[in-house]
Amino acid sequence: MTLVDHPIIRERLTHIRSTDSVTAEFRHALHDIARLMTFEVTKDLETTTVEVETPLKKTEGHAFERPIVLVPILRAGVGMLNGFAEILTEASVGYIGLYRNEETHQPHSYYCKLPANIAEAEVILIDPMLATGGSAADAADELKKAGAERLRFACLIAAPEGVAAFEERHPDIPVFAAALDERLDENAYIIPGLGDAGDRYFGT
Ligand code: PRP
Ligand code: URA
Repeated sequence: MTLVDHPIIRERLTHIRSTDSVTAEFRHALHDIARLMTFEVTKDLETTTVEVETPLKKTEGHAFERPIVLVPILRAGVGMLNGFAEILTEASVGYIGLYRNEETHQPHSYYCKLPANIAEAEVILIDPMLATGGSAADAADELKKAGAERLRFACLIAAPEGVAAFEERHPDIPVFAAALDERLDENAYIIPGLGDAGDRYFGT
């Protein structure tokens, strides 16, 4: 797992965790962190050489080698989508809908809509919380079943248990997180975490 550490990210994370933050502050800080994470998450994207004409001369430029697809996991992944999309302006967007059963903590899939070019694309799977790892790992299964071959996963807060479970099921998918927290509690919530990401982002 790669920890995306930066003073601005650490400062915004404090707002996200705080019970004093109202919904608008939570949304704003999550958006800012996603935007800042984009740089590190996409650091190894391959580019091809293209010709570009400046007002003075032809020179060498660069274009992304492959299309980019962003896939937030519903619901809470939506909170990070625009931060990535504002930088990766040419990216297509797919959605995977999953919710955790509150008793078993197992994820249940209820929606999947992916762009047609998923097989040739660089795919960034997005969800703020990596708790047990079940939701992200199932979402990655769905992406691979749809033909995705180049995947990476970006989250806000990861639990050590979730990182281990995800990396065991998908050792080929790099994981990026803005924070690695202590552990899971008996309800499989991340400690200290931020509570329920979907409820806090959507004000439910
Ligand atoms: C949250 C979160 C992840 C999942 C992480 O979603 O956004 O998708 O839990 O938990 P896991 O790693 O143990 O699977 P939730 O199921 O609460 O759905 P929501 O986003 O619709 O609220
Ligand atoms: N989902 C959340 O939204 N928060 C957690 O801490 C764990 C799973």
